[in-house]
Amino acid sequence: MSQDSTTMERATPKRGRKKTTAPATAPRPAPQPVGTAHASHTNAELLARRSAAVARGVASAAPIFADRAENAELWDVEGRRFIDFAGGIAVLNTGHCHPRIVGAAMAQEARFTHTSFQVVPYEPYVALAEKLNALAPGDFAKKTLLVTTGAEAVENAVKIARAATGRPGVIAFNGGYHGRTLLTLGMTGKVSPYKKDVGPFPSDIFRAPLPDARAGITVEQALLALETLFLTDAQPERVAAIILEPVLGEGGYIPVPAEFWQALRAVCDRHGILLIADEIQSGFGRTGAWFAIEHSGVAPDLITVAKSLAGGYPIAGVVGRAEVMDAVIPGGLGGTYGGNPVACAAALAAIATIEDEGLLARSTALGAHLRTRFAEIGARTAPYRMWDIRGLGAMLAVEFVTDFETGAPDAALTKAICTEALARGLILLSCGMHGNAIRVMVPLTASDALIEEGLEIFEAALAAAIDTQAHGGLGV
Ligand SMILES: Cc1ncc(COP(=O)(O)O)c(C=O)c1O
Repeated sequence: MSQDSTTMERATPKRGRKKTTAPATAPRPAPQPVGTAHASHTNAELLARRSAAVARGVASAAPIFADRAENAELWDVEGRRFIDFAGGIAVLNTGHCHPRIVGAAMAQEARFTHTSFQVVPYEPYVALAEKLNALAPGDFAKKTLLVTTGAEAVENAVKIARAATGRPGVIAFNGGYHGRTLLTLGMTGKVSPYKKDVGPFPSDIFRAPLPDARAGITVEQALLALETLFLTDAQPERVAAIILEPVLGEGGYIPVPAEFWQALRAVCDRHGILLIADEIQSGFGRTGAWFAIEHSGVAPDLITVAKSLAGGYPIAGVVGRAEVMDAVIPGGLGGTYGGNPVACAAALAAIATIEDEGLLARSTALGAHLRTRFAEIGARTAPYRMWDIRGLGAMLAVEFVTDFETGAPDAALTKAICTEALARGLILLSCGMHGNAIRVMVPLTASDALIEEGLEIFEAALAAAIDTQAHGGLGV
């Protein structure tokens, strides 16, 4: 609504109103930096304060505190520089503080930061919904809901699927990760640390195995297990949705085979079940496509999005078939902050950045390069220890074992590599059911030279960790 004088005149009671030329409130001072962010601290001081003030359950991978960051580099409060291969857990495909994204967010902040879309809507929410509808695979009309976190997106996808089908059941998969709220934990297929001691979890959630070459589970066996689940526990006519990640994220960067997705599509169509792709970690260019599911040629009914959608600003969403998305009655979806305007502006700029900087092609090329380099590094520095290099595009992980004969996961070595890397200036993050894989989530905007510097640190850290282990230092 434009706030021209006619509109204001109509909206304001006339009686007793004085005509003024100046705003009723005093002009506000220009914003100043607040808080202690720029005071000098050591990491040790902050760690001590953190452990006294912050709940123990929030773990951090690195015992350093961020001061500033740019693209794929981060500086801690002591001025040390780090190369960031973790990207804030797959949030920064466009890098830290991309000027275009920060600029768009600041421009929106100068206009307004919050109205709640449920009170007074705004254009950036609609524009982002239009953009996501256009980008998501599937030759059908789509609609979008915006929320704030990935878990919230997954929760809402389930609500929408239940409303659209009138059924309660949800089938998720072993090793899948969908968030830390109680419903999403119920769907998450890994106990420690996420589900430990915090149950019980909601009912009507069933779990099946995924195809897994390492565990010797073929696509046929996984489909058989699903059919068995329909016979033993989950009446198919009572199942609203099947949900999975196209590439397991926390579960170890394991791509789900295209044939499995295609077979699931057929199973869902046969039983009137909705298929949900959780693209929260795999979306927005990480795998060389906007959505990893595109590699399978399957169009899911609903897609959950978050993380690299907005280059560091908190926003998430559900994109899906228009008639399914419209199943929930007005007022049944939303949340105070859902689709915050600053985050919407950032997301639109992040998407434009991925388009204009060719980051999908960059992801494919980077993935191929990383595979080659990890293979060289493994052969040279960790013979018979680097069991697997896997993923899609630049969503890549390397897995470590004690030896090739037993293939036993080596979580201690993996942890030691991360520690040694941090000591040398590289931030790494592990993943996998056994915590024995290291995933690469470096910004797609990072230069080749910076990635090479990071890989050299990785190799030095790997050598140091293996050497320490060989001398009995890792407590395996
Ligand atoms: C596949 C997937 N789904 C859901 C989530 C939950 O997202 P959030 O941490 O924003 O709640 C994550 C987070 O890592 C994820 O990787």
